[in-house]
Amino acid sequence: MGITDNAKDNDSSKDDSVNHILNTDKSNSNTDTNTGANTDADTSANTDSDSDDISIKEIPIVIGRSPAATKKYGTKGALLLGKEYIEKGDKILMSNNLYLDIANAHVMLICGKRGGGKSYTMGVIAEGLSLLEPEVRQNLSVILLDTMGIYWTMGHANKKEAKLLEPYGIDPHPVDVVIYTPEKFYYEYKKKGIRTDFPFSISIFEVEADDWCSAFRQDKYSNNGIFIAKIVEELSEQKSKYILDDILTFIDEDDGTDDQTKKAVKNMFKTAKAWGVFSDHGTPLHELAKGGQITVLDVSCYATMPGGWDVKTLVVGIVSKHLFIQRMEFRKGEELNEIKYLEKYFIEQKAIDAEKKQEMPLVWLVIDEAHEFLPLKTEDANAATDPLVIIMREGRQPGISLILATQQPGKIHTDVMTQLDTVISHRITARLDMQALGLLAQSYMEHGISRAMNELPRLKGSAVIFDDLNEKIHKMRVRPRFTWHGGASPSAIKDE
Ligand SMILES: Nc1ncnc2c1ncn2[C@@H]1O[C@H](COP(=O)(O)OP(=O)(O)OP(=O)(O)O)[C@@H](O)[C@H]1O
Ligand SMILES: [Mg+2]
Repeated sequence: MGITDNAKDNDSSKDDSVNHILNTDKSNSNTDTNTGANTDADTSANTDSDSDDISIKEIPIVIGRSPAATKKYGTKGALLLGKEYIEKGDKILMSNNLYLDIANAHVMLICGKRGGGKSYTMGVIAEGLSLLEPEVRQNLSVILLDTMGIYWTMGHANKKEAKLLEPYGIDPHPVDVVIYTPEKFYYEYKKKGIRTDFPFSISIFEVEADDWCSAFRQDKYSNNGIFIAKIVEELSEQKSKYILDDILTFIDEDDGTDDQTKKAVKNMFKTAKAWGVFSDHGTPLHELAKGGQITVLDVSCYATMPGGWDVKTLVVGIVSKHLFIQRMEFRKGEELNEIKYLEKYFIEQKAIDAEKKQEMPLVWLVIDEAHEFLPLKTEDANAATDPLVIIMREGRQPGISLILATQQPGKIHTDVMTQLDTVISHRITARLDMQALGLLAQSYMEHGISRAMNELPRLKGSAVIFDDLNEKIHKMRVRPRFTWHGGASPSAIKDE
């Protein structure tokens, strides 16, 4: 019957025994560490009426973690995502807690139609970092590239949904989120009393020629594109830290380029100056990724300026690329430490312990409306596309993960579908999008994905989750937020 049974068919008896072992472990310790929730017989609201709640012994399911790793680590380094739906007679009830592994690198996609709960689920994952065990949390960072400007509200408790949180034993509470706002808007926001912590800008010398070409929508092999490459190459040879005025002076003084090209390119850089994205004292990008920190970079305001679209993708591209490169560099150091650790007979123990702490945490990049940065068609690619594709393909090794959300999985870059290992799909109706998901799931799913979708209770947060590592799918309901969800639709009718 439906997905749940199908998933069970794929269960090996070994997995079951692992789950039972964990069941005991879990009740004793792990859930308490993660949520403070009541771990014994779970009594969640179900889809029919509260009186139909069921009590079953909790079996921890950790999405994205192998049975062996689950046996070893339990739910350590995994966050509580919600509860699995199970069928009892003709009713669908909520039973086991479902956890999501965030201790290892993953590529996740959250999809669903408008208002289905994508941004909310992203918030659930991001805020979940704060509930992890401190020794794991300090090695992880979550960075929300906030395209809608809705995650600053994580600094407030979700008192509105306190009742919904009760079955999880979690009280509404705020998290210590760090908010960066583009410098151009930072002081304005401060004046208006909008919550922000730091101004954000990018040092101009961090921008590569290809990024400029994408931002200005110039073919890199055109005259303009070739001239931009020349500017960047020669200026970076002259000095390591150059500013926008250096670029303008370089253009004026360059003899080897025709006047028309010079004029056109100069105008482009003058426009870039007006964007207010760049400064001579750009934000050190590694500061966005701090151990245990949830960072919100509000890129939504870039959409309000002329050509804003290109600016948003440029910023997302540069930030992603830098975080990837920095993690690659740090990873080498970490591996060296691990090697030293194993060769401890030759090294003094104290020195090794001092080095063991991760200098740059593993990074979780969270991006809403991801089809805008990772479009299906090559001709629609932008400054964010290549850096994100590289992270999808190569991020596992340096430990940089992606959580992407989209309304339209059928219109997203094909690499997303081939690289992802976890999908949380809220209700989807469009045939194209259903087909895109069907392709992904068909290897281990007999019944159609549309059937699974149809079986989902029509409750906010209901979703089908595909766990590619374990080749299982579950029907579930994402838990309520304990921090305030920004981005709820406004209504002309106000509550009394
Ligand atoms: N797990 C959940 N539990 C309770 N309510 C939820 C849950 N998920 C979503 N909701 C409710 O549904 C509303 C819409 O969710 P959300 O803003 O995440 O939609 P979305 O899929 O991001 O939509 P859009 O595509 O328009 O951005 C939320 O404001 C919230 O009230
Ligand atoms: Mg949304």
